[in-house]
Amino acid sequence: MSRVTIVEVGPRDGLQNITKVVPTNLKIELIQRLAATGLPVIEATSFVSPKWIPQLADGPHVLRGIKTMMEGSNGIQFPVLVPNEKGIQLAIRSGSKDVAVFVSATEGFSRRNINCSVDESLARVQAISEKAKAAGIKMRGYVSCIFSDPYDGPTEPSQVIKVTQALLDAGCYEVSLGDTLGIGTVADVEVLLGEMLKTIPASKLAGHFHDTYGQAIANVIKSYEMGLRTFDSSVAGLGGCPFAKGAKGNLATEDLLYTLGKMGIQTGVDLAEVVNIGVWISEALDLPNGSRAGAALAVK
Ligand code: HMG
Ligand code: MG
Repeated sequence: MSRVTIVEVGPRDGLQNITKVVPTNLKIELIQRLAATGLPVIEATSFVSPKWIPQLADGPHVLRGIKTMMEGSNGIQFPVLVPNEKGIQLAIRSGSKDVAVFVSATEGFSRRNINCSVDESLARVQAISEKAKAAGIKMRGYVSCIFSDPYDGPTEPSQVIKVTQALLDAGCYEVSLGDTLGIGTVADVEVLLGEMLKTIPASKLAGHFHDTYGQAIANVIKSYEMGLRTFDSSVAGLGGCPFAKGAKGNLATEDLLYTLGKMGIQTGVDLAEVVNIGVWISEALDLPNGSRAGAALAVK
């Protein structure tokens, strides 16, 4: 039976770009409700500079709120995004068992997003990796701007391959390929994965498609056909990055579940429950529901 693993990034990627402060209790409730749907991985928050991402300044409090779940036997992973040694130190102190590091394939976004070059950023990952390994923490990686950079323009596949391989060499168990701008099409996926899969196994890769141009679900299917089995998505299609202006939310988890379900692909996730959460969180945040399938199923 075909199976796909879904990494829910709503509580982190979904919230980081919202300017109005979301109460910590609402973030905790969101994670608790998502954890009850069968999702195997839920990215809980970021330990980044509160000056750069004020919305997630309460990261340690969020983790405190889900401590029982993190320590429980539910098997769910709750990664936390970390950019530097301070981030991994906070993660260790908060009892994290999983972190995610992020490196841009391109210089412009790297400078704007984390204030350093791609090579400096990879050196930071090395330092994080040593601390993570010593603390028994698993590390996932992201490569951003796989198709295009908001400042530099189109990205060469060779840049993506270089950073992905460096992240795997640094100890990431998997690297998620981020179309930060949500601009790529199946033609771009075919070219990039066609090159990448010559040297990197599909089992080490995940897809992280923002949905700015409405291409995310098509890009997932193309990636699936080319061998990928892990995809990131966000309830109600929440998401975006303040340093990639104009980029919209992630592929909605409801849309992903709807398509995979119709294709007969197992995920272990309860679509109806995610639809309910999408309606609830959109109302709570006073935002339109960004999931087409979620909005349609909610009125049925
Ligand atoms: P900087 O200003 O160069 O760093 O920022 P700094 O070391 O000078 O620190 C500045 C202040 O932040 C200091 O505080 C530090 O202590 C503090 P002060 O002394 O001024 O009071 N600080 C921290 N606080 C908490 N946790 C930390 C931390 N580090 C420093 N870890 C830095 C460099 C990397 C810190 C900053 O640029 C940053 O935090 N950037 C994060 C930006 C971000 O989170 N972007 C969104 C996530 S990436 C994304 O969304 C893409 C993705 O979804 C995939 C895709 O879609 O492509 C993953
Ligand atoms: Mg993202």
